[in-house]
Amino acid sequence: MTVHFIGAGPGAPDLLTLRGRDLIAACPVCLYAGSLVPEQILEHCPPGARVINTAPLSLDEILHEIQTAHAQGLDVARLHSGDLSVWSAMGEQLRRLRELDIPYSITPGVPSFAAAAATLGQELTLPGVAQSVVLTRTPGRASAMPSEETLANFARTGATLAIHLSIHNLAQVVESLTPYYGEQCPVAIVWRASWPDERVVRGRLGSIEGLIDDTMQRTALILVGPVLESEDFDESSLYAEGYDRRFRPQSADSPFATPTDKSEP
Ligand SMILES: C[S@@+](CC[C@H](N)C(=O)[O-])C[C@H]1O[C@@H](n2cnc3c(N)ncnc32)[C@H](O)[C@@H]1O
Repeated sequence: MTVHFIGAGPGAPDLLTLRGRDLIAACPVCLYAGSLVPEQILEHCPPGARVINTAPLSLDEILHEIQTAHAQGLDVARLHSGDLSVWSAMGEQLRRLRELDIPYSITPGVPSFAAAAATLGQELTLPGVAQSVVLTRTPGRASAMPSEETLANFARTGATLAIHLSIHNLAQVVESLTPYYGEQCPVAIVWRASWPDERVVRGRLGSIEGLIDDTMQRTALILVGPVLESEDFDESSLYAEGYDRRFRPQSADSPFATPTDKSEP
């Protein structure tokens, strides 16, 4: 018996990995975080599967469901939105499973920041503009932030920021970032990226608050940084003519011109 943690993606039911889909189809028990995981993904569950929405459950109640399945020798598909590596509450579940000696596996999913970037038609790391993306949030009722993880500290780097769980704190986000990025810095808010009703609002730090309304609650990402409207960026070396590299040695004397490299297709 194994608990399979599966990243269910940002919302579109076909943004699920093949491995995730096959695991869901093979598990007679499915626990899903119903606040964000789309119902259509549950259609992959086998007929007769025990399917439980964990949104109203406590951690103890979720563990009780898992232990019941474990006692019956039934594999469990455990679905969380996006990818499991950020804000999934997987860590505390894994710790309990280790204590209980219950085996688990982890299958990554498409994170919402990547879906939002796709919606925007945007690379978030452009040469000479930004080479880092900070995935962060503002403090919430249930989650304080470590003292050094402030928006101001991240803003000092000038990196692209992908701010989660914070649309209700937009005023605070603007206030914290404006001294570093300036009022003219581009901002994009992507609401329900990849859902059929997704919406995008583009603006600037100085104007963005006036551009959104109360219908864009909860499931929204705030992306901030010059990268969002830069056409004036360097081309990468990756495909540059004459750049000597492992997969495209430029001469017989190149340190990359080994027999192995020459045999690459
Ligand atoms: C609990 S976190 C889950 C993050 C998820 N594990 C991931 O990989 O993106 C929920 C937050 O992620 C963001 N989010 C999740 N799905 C989204 C989507 N489809 N569009 C925009 N933002 C989304 C929002 O900021 C939301 O408040």
